Amino acid sequence: MKILVTGGLGYIGSHTAVALQQAGFEVLIVDNMSNSSIDVLEGIAHITGTTPQFKYLDLREKEEVHHYFKTHKDIDGIIHFAASKAVGESVENPLLYYENNINTLVYLLQECHAHKIQNLIFSSSCTVYGEPDSLPITENAPIKVANSPYGNTKQISEEIIFDTTKVSDIKAIALRYFNPIGAHESTEIGELPLGVPQNLVPFITQTAIGLREQLSVFGNDYPTEDGSCIRDYIHVMDLAEAHVVALQRLLENKNKEAFEVFNVGTGKGSSVFEVIKAFEKVSGTSLNYKVVDRRPGDVIAVYADTTRANKELGWKAKRDLEEALRSAWKWEEKVRRES
Ligand code: UD1
Repeated sequence: MKILVTGGLGYIGSHTAVALQQAGFEVLIVDNMSNSSIDVLEGIAHITGTTPQFKYLDLREKEEVHHYFKTHKDIDGIIHFAASKAVGESVENPLLYYENNINTLVYLLQECHAHKIQNLIFSSSCTVYGEPDSLPITENAPIKVANSPYGNTKQISEEIIFDTTKVSDIKAIALRYFNPIGAHESTEIGELPLGVPQNLVPFITQTAIGLREQLSVFGNDYPTEDGSCIRDYIHVMDLAEAHVVALQRLLENKNKEAFEVFNVGTGKGSSVFEVIKAFEKVSGTSLNYKVVDRRPGDVIAVYADTTRANKELGWKAKRDLEEALRSAWKWEEKVRRES
């Protein structure tokens, strides 16, 4: 079975490409390398023994996309990662986000329709829930007004896919990711943020390795036990494996509705201070950090109710926070050794 992975050189895409190949799928990758590197292909090949077929493609180029599908007719399913994901950047440049995350999805769906590609897995986010009314959060929780254009693109994308599945043969699953962290245990692939990391764990590892002077903890006066925000940090390989089982569900026609959504998290919330402590423990380092003001737009606490994914997909996160942080640290050490 041939699976197209858009954004397959990116952080989650590359780990999913590995999981797909290990499950026996043939992987085709398209990527515009806006936030990734061609070296990732080699990393995937080192782990799996197979180099995925790769084509540089910017999905905003409608004609190019059209041409790609005309020349690759036997695709059985698509996992669509290619998108922009920086919350702050989306506030500053909303049109970039709407073009990059929405137009591209529309073009892809048009090609799915034209070429009878019926299986689509979409990268969604727990950001669609906004500040939850109750925790853990289930898929039935209300979708709140998005607090950034980025979040809005995830909400709109889910709606676009849902509307399309109603009037076509396309079946789709949106996976609502919580906070992916960590790297493949081989350290062949991992997260490579461009510039200053916006996310907690890459900022922690870059601080510990000496690339950043100090981690800023955004607020210690939240109504949580230790005053810092709570998130559900999931090992990227657990997340990658969720894509494989979701895809298999569609390919085997086991889906119950044409469009389904699943939370993909561990079900366990960890505060920023808990993450710092766990990191210090697994790395044997002492992290330089200070508490600063809250970051605008941060929700206080969010973690997943994963019952639906457990029952319907037979999937459960297998790795814990410490294992994920250990892999993130191993990756950071390797990247810096080589640079
Ligand atoms: C958010 C979205 C997520 C989206 C991601 C894209 C929510 C709940 N989550 O993740 O869906 O995919 O952006 O980037 O909307 N922190 C610090 N110091 C730092 C960095 C982060 O204290 O230098 C804290 C944050 O305040 C937060 C936690 O660490 O409490 C995690 O932050 P981050 O890694 O940026 O992820 P989210 O904002 O949760």
